[in-house]
Amino acid sequence: MAARQMAVLAAALCALPALVSALSVQGRAGAAQAQTPPDAQERFEELSSGGWDNSSLSGPGSRPELCKPYPALADFFLRWIGNHRDEVQSMVEVSAGHWPTGWQRFVEWPDIDYTGVDLLDDVVAADKKYLAEHGKGGLRSMAFQQGDMLLDASLPRADLLFTKDTLIHFPNKYIQQFLNNTVLQCPPKYKYVMFVHDSRPRDQANNDINRFGEFHGLQLKNPPFNLKVSTRFKWTASLDGKTRVVQVLRPEKYCGDTPPTVDLDALEAHERERERRRKVRARKAHEAELNAEMPASATDEAEETAKASEPY
Ligand SMILES: *[C@@H]1O[C@H](CO)[C@@H](O)[C@H](O)[C@H]1NC(C)=O
Ligand SMILES: *[C@@H]1O[C@H](CO)[C@@H](O)[C@H](O)[C@H]1NC(C)=O
Repeated sequence: MAARQMAVLAAALCALPALVSALSVQGRAGAAQAQTPPDAQERFEELSSGGWDNSSLSGPGSRPELCKPYPALADFFLRWIGNHRDEVQSMVEVSAGHWPTGWQRFVEWPDIDYTGVDLLDDVVAADKKYLAEHGKGGLRSMAFQQGDMLLDASLPRADLLFTKDTLIHFPNKYIQQFLNNTVLQCPPKYKYVMFVHDSRPRDQANNDINRFGEFHGLQLKNPPFNLKVSTRFKWTASLDGKTRVVQVLRPEKYCGDTPPTVDLDALEAHERERERRRKVRARKAHEAELNAEMPASATDEAEETAKASEPY
C-alpha cells in the first residue's frame, strides 16, 4: 500500500474513534445483541461536536439553564436519593454526556458511587479530565467509561440507572430494544430506572423519528412502550418553556409471574384526592364543632367508600 493511501486510511480511522471503539466493544461482548448502528454513532459524534448546541456539547437538553428554575431537577434528585438511601448506594448514568459543559456540574451530588457511561470516546476522555481537575465533589466515587446503551453487556450494574435526554434521540424501535435488553431484564439489573426527558402534550403519542439524532418527546406510559412508570416530578424550564418529566420504574415488578397493570400515576392521584377529601372533612368537622352545628355530612363518607373500592 502506498504511503499516501496509508495516510488517508489512518486519517479516516482517526476521524471515527467511536466507531472503532464500538467495534472492539462488540468483539468483547459477543455479537448476540445489536448495538447502536455505525451511522448513528457518526451522527452523535457530529452533533456532540457542537452540531446540537455549541455551548452544551451533549445537546440543548444538557444545558444547565434547562434545570432552572433552580433548584428544580437537582433538588428533586437529591430529595429522591435521600428518600431511597437504604436501597440506592450507586448509580450509572447513560449517556453521561459532556460534563464540562453539562448540567451535572451544578448538582450537589450525594455520597453515592457514580459511573458515567458514554458512547463517544472523546466525551469519556473529557469527563475523565474534568474529574481529574475538579475531583469527585460530594460523590463517594466517580468514574467514566465507554459503553453503548444498546449493548447491555457494556453497561455496569448499579442500584439506579439514570438516563436523561437520551431516548429522545432514539427511534422507537431502539428505545424498545434498550427497554427489553437492559431495563426489563430479569432478575433485574437495576433496582430503579429513572428517565428524564421532554414530555409535552404533543409528545404523548410517542410519534417516531426516522433517524438517530433527530428529536421526539416521549410518554413511556403510552403505546408502544406501556411502561408502568411513576411520574415523580415535572417541570417547565424557563429557558424554552418546554415541559420535562422524571419517571421512575421498578424493574423487579416486571419479574413476577404477571407484569404490572396498575397505573401508578392514577393510583397516586386517587390517593391524593382521598387525602384532600379527608382534610376537607376534618376542616368541616372542626368548623361545625366551633359553630356547635351538625358534624361533616355522611354523603362525603359514602362517596369516599365507593371511590376507595374502585379497582386500580
Ligand atoms: C456557537 O455558534 C454561534 C452561532 O452559530 C457562533 O456565533 C458562536 O461563535 C459559536 N461559539 C463557539 C464557542 O463556537
Ligand atoms: C421487546 O419485547 C417484546 C415482548 O417480549 C417483544 O414483543 C418485542 O418484539 C421486543 N422488541 C424489541 C425491539 O426487542
